[in-house]
Amino acid sequence: MTAQTGPGLVDESAPAGDQLQQPFSAADPAAVLDFTEVHRSYPVLADFRARLGATPLKEVPSVEGGARILAKCEWENPIGSIKDRIAYALMADALRTHGDGDPRDLRLVAYSGGDLAEAMSFLGMQTGVKTRFVLGSFVPKSLIDTLEGRGSLVDLVPKELGFLRVIRRSQRIAVEEPGWTLVFQHSNPVNVAMHEQTTGAEIVTQLGERRPDLWIASIGSGGTLVGVLRALRKRFPDVRAVGVTPEEAPYGNPEAPGGKPTYEGSGGHGFGIRQPFVKAHDEWIHEQRHVPTRRALDAMGEFFDATGMRIGSSAAANWLIAKDYAARMPPSAVVVTVFPCSGTPEQWVELGR
Ligand SMILES: Cc1ncc(COP(=O)(O)O)c(C=O)c1O
Repeated sequence: MTAQTGPGLVDESAPAGDQLQQPFSAADPAAVLDFTEVHRSYPVLADFRARLGATPLKEVPSVEGGARILAKCEWENPIGSIKDRIAYALMADALRTHGDGDPRDLRLVAYSGGDLAEAMSFLGMQTGVKTRFVLGSFVPKSLIDTLEGRGSLVDLVPKELGFLRVIRRSQRIAVEEPGWTLVFQHSNPVNVAMHEQTTGAEIVTQLGERRPDLWIASIGSGGTLVGVLRALRKRFPDVRAVGVTPEEAPYGNPEAPGGKPTYEGSGGHGFGIRQPFVKAHDEWIHEQRHVPTRRALDAMGEFFDATGMRIGSSAAANWLIAKDYAARMPPSAVVVTVFPCSGTPEQWVELGR
């Protein structure tokens, strides 16, 4: 990879037909999420689906005199993060395509920031599907132990190369190593559909009579930001939306990626690549905001000290941006955000809490 940075650089690692650069158009959730047959063949997946979601929408500390902040608390999913929803949808989608075949003949390779892998390895173990995860070498040892303990394979990409290289490695495995089917969370429509049909629909119900003024979400694949936004806009067409990424890896960043650590599950890819789900909805998103990773980590501790609740680093970044907007809005206004996970044991040790 080139060591230079600057606008106009070309990503030489992009494969032909790069899924990251295909245009996206959203599908009807009811159609793409019809997993009736899959549930019949795999009752464990039906059971997991029944335990997904219905996570609380909690009021969290805001700024004195400012808008109220409501956060969807996603660590209450079965494996502990928002990605449980997407791991389920991607696994069910892959099994639907596999049809009547023996699940042991299905071998899935997926890239992940960590949470998707954790949930998908569980589902692989439950269904008999072989799973393999490409991860950045920044992931905690506790996660690698969990994945390997469940029989998943793990490939680590040096963290200095950035998350784009993690994606590229998984694409290469699918091309060069026969038998591995690529799970591509950044382009599979079930990702957005699942958030529209579950996360977003739950928020609409939980809001009741309250009208959201602003929806704020960190961007990894962009599935959460866009899927929930699609559900909110059906009921509240005027809702505004803000994407959040680390300052070290902003959305749409034209520079070459890599080098600096970033907070969990979020970030732009570099080379000017914009996540397909977000790119397709750019005009619905009013602002892109950035949070330095050190600031997000410190805010985990601040939130814990204020509430006794553990939130992850992307949640903390969302909270900081939510407070920033809330400070400029009246107390009658409502800001909705999401807390994707509760952080890793290693982060809490480092934070001394
Ligand atoms: C902790 C965490 N926060 C935020 C995100 C971003 O979610 P999405 O991929 O829906 O944009 C992820 C996704 O991996 C995550 O694991």
